[in-house]
Amino acid sequence: MEKEEVISAAANYVQDLLKDEGSGHDWWHIFRVWNNAKHIASKEQADMHVVELAALLHDIGDHKFHNGDETVGPRMARQWLERYKVDEHSIDHICSIIKDLSFKGAGTSSAMPTLEGKIVQDADRLDAIGAIGIARTFAYGGHKSREMYNPDIKPVLHDSFEAYKNNSAPTINHFYEKLLLLKDRMHTESAKKLAEQRHQYMEEFLNQFYAEWEGEK
Ligand code: ADP
Ligand code: NI
Repeated sequence: MEKEEVISAAANYVQDLLKDEGSGHDWWHIFRVWNNAKHIASKEQADMHVVELAALLHDIGDHKFHNGDETVGPRMARQWLERYKVDEHSIDHICSIIKDLSFKGAGTSSAMPTLEGKIVQDADRLDAIGAIGIARTFAYGGHKSREMYNPDIKPVLHDSFEAYKNNSAPTINHFYEKLLLLKDRMHTESAKKLAEQRHQYMEEFLNQFYAEWEGEK
């Protein structure tokens, strides 16, 4: 099978699998990450096939929807890639990118050993910030029946994945626990540039939010 055919089969598979997802991890998130990843990769010397497949398959078995089990995603991706006869070396690479991709708490590291992994992680994180990031975060909070904001519950910088993934804080806290930290954790130059503007937009949003909360604007 030609490489382009494998890519379009992966897109069809993921589109079908995530079409009814209501927490901000739907097909259109994957579509944007795929586009972001292609854009970033076009400026780097990267293996585009690995980048595209990892971007397309990165959220198919997300731990948040499988009782915290982080092995489901890479396992589902491997099964799919084997069925489509992708070479073993690329399969190992794609599955290790998927395994390492997630944000695991403010006090944990985001090590990504390969350029392709760095590109997909940047692409996924660009979609977590800016206007779309804000929208996704409130969509997720609603999906989980979280309070929007509670001035009495302060954000916590988690230093373990367990603590980070088990917290049920108000949605605004997520900005401090993750979203505002992403700008300084981008790997590639093109993502750093895009992140700068998106970060500033979130800062403005938060300032306006607090001003309205106090009835000042
Ligand atoms: P990653 O892609 O780094 O693993 P997640 O899948 O955990 O990140 O989160 C993706 C997006 O889902 C976040 O950027 C945010 O929009 C939303 N989200 C995840 N966890 C929370 C949370 N606790 N509160 C609000 N939004 C969240
Ligand atoms: Ni994602």
